[in-house]
Amino acid sequence: MKKKVIIVGGGPGGYVAAIRAAQLGAEVHIVEKEKMGGTCLNVGCIPTKALLHTAKLYHTVQEEANNGLRVEGISLDWPALMARKDTIVNRLVQGVKGLLKAHGVKTHSGRAVLKDAHKVQVVGERTVTLDADIIVLASGSVPSKIPVPGANSAGVIDSTAVLSLPKVPKSLVIIGGGVIGTEFASLYSSFGTKVTIVEMLPEILPMVDRQIAKRVKEKLTKCNIDFMLEAGLKEILPTSNGLSAVVQTAGKNYEVAGEYILMATGRKANIHNMGLEEVGIQTERGRIVVNEYFATNIPHIYAIGDCNAQMMLAHAASAQGVAAVEYALGHRPFYNPKVIPSCIYTIPEAAGVGLTEDEAAAQGIPYKVGLFPLMANGKSLIEGCESGLIKLIVAEKSGEILGGHIFGPRATDLIGEIALAINLEATVDEIIATIHAHPTMSEGIAEAALSVSGNAIHWPPGAKIL
Ligand code: NAI
Repeated sequence: MKKKVIIVGGGPGGYVAAIRAAQLGAEVHIVEKEKMGGTCLNVGCIPTKALLHTAKLYHTVQEEANNGLRVEGISLDWPALMARKDTIVNRLVQGVKGLLKAHGVKTHSGRAVLKDAHKVQVVGERTVTLDADIIVLASGSVPSKIPVPGANSAGVIDSTAVLSLPKVPKSLVIIGGGVIGTEFASLYSSFGTKVTIVEMLPEILPMVDRQIAKRVKEKLTKCNIDFMLEAGLKEILPTSNGLSAVVQTAGKNYEVAGEYILMATGRKANIHNMGLEEVGIQTERGRIVVNEYFATNIPHIYAIGDCNAQMMLAHAASAQGVAAVEYALGHRPFYNPKVIPSCIYTIPEAAGVGLTEDEAAAQGIPYKVGLFPLMANGKSLIEGCESGLIKLIVAEKSGEILGGHIFGPRATDLIGEIALAINLEATVDEIIATIHAHPTMSEGIAEAALSVSGNAIHWPPGAKIL
């Protein structure tokens, strides 16, 4: 008899798990309280990158004005940009619905609540209760707000509201110099907004390799973005034309004014009002506890993606969803948590996979570093980027690739080569032996591999890379 699988949540974790379970012959039901596609598709990755695409064009066209292109009368049509973003989102949402239908997945619109370990109630226009052999929780995450006085004032926005502002703001204060903070800083500063990033730590992008994060910050600074580091938000006050963030740094309070204040200080797992406690599912520090196959303490109930908070990334959620249903339906999944690329869509982009240099050092792994500055790469120069860098972390003896980090145009696509290399346990020699097309940015990966032994072709021996 067919196993009956219920998936709670239609984001990139849930809908991918649903399709995979259907491919494996299960009867699959998916419950979603808002729109299919979840945060990523509706108010996250996709709309943000749609806006960033135009921001990059706008930025590039202005820069190219010095490179033989005469640009006259370029201006931004904000309502048209918003409409384009919505069209892309809607098209992809329809696409997800179509895929689910094509795989025979039954969709239910409403809020899912666990009634017991085998029953899910769907509270929607009408309430129905579904029985399940296997339940996969894929309820995602919500933005977390710092509870300072004034945090609920009008004009204090999160990563959803910042996607649909009525017009380009004159000024924006961003609390948090993480992924969301830097992407929106790049986006709005390209359109002329005066952006200030307030970050609690001494550096931005704490999870990123230090050398790459430094370059991102230098580039953002050149784009007229201000930074306040080691700075904590104390209070938000209203002003005559917006808001003022009271920020404490080095023991002193400063006021930073902005038309809006964007809270980008992380997200938290969405695990409330779903009946978890009633059914006895173990949670810890605001997330669902899972094992290596994403099973909770109740073996036929799984939790994948942001709600287990292992790695809050869309592609990690999808991979976990596939692994969970494959395991639940009697297969042997392959999921390698060490090879999950992380991508930052600043202008230009940054991306990394595997170990950072600090992580290799902290784990006591003997390693070598390969570095190649993209100012020495023809394609990068043609594309107007002189500040890029490719960095490889390599096991000292075997030359196995342990980590790769890129700052430069299309870094988020290029990182795929290094992810594959790590997954295949490839060495620098194998990267070097792979002929990279010319002129491409990917040549920089081979050059970084060559540089591990001091043999880069397009960088003078011993020349310093800052
Ligand atoms: P994050 O964890 O990347 O960064 C939050 C930043 O806020 C950190 O640098 C932290 O030190 C700082 N911070 C925390 N409290 C603060 C305070 N009181 N004052 C000043 N700074 C403070 O979180 P973020 O950027 O909000 O992103 C949320 C999640 O969404 C992350 O898991 C991220 O990976 C994911 N995401 C991924 C994207 C991508 O893959 N391109 C894009 C956007 C989000």
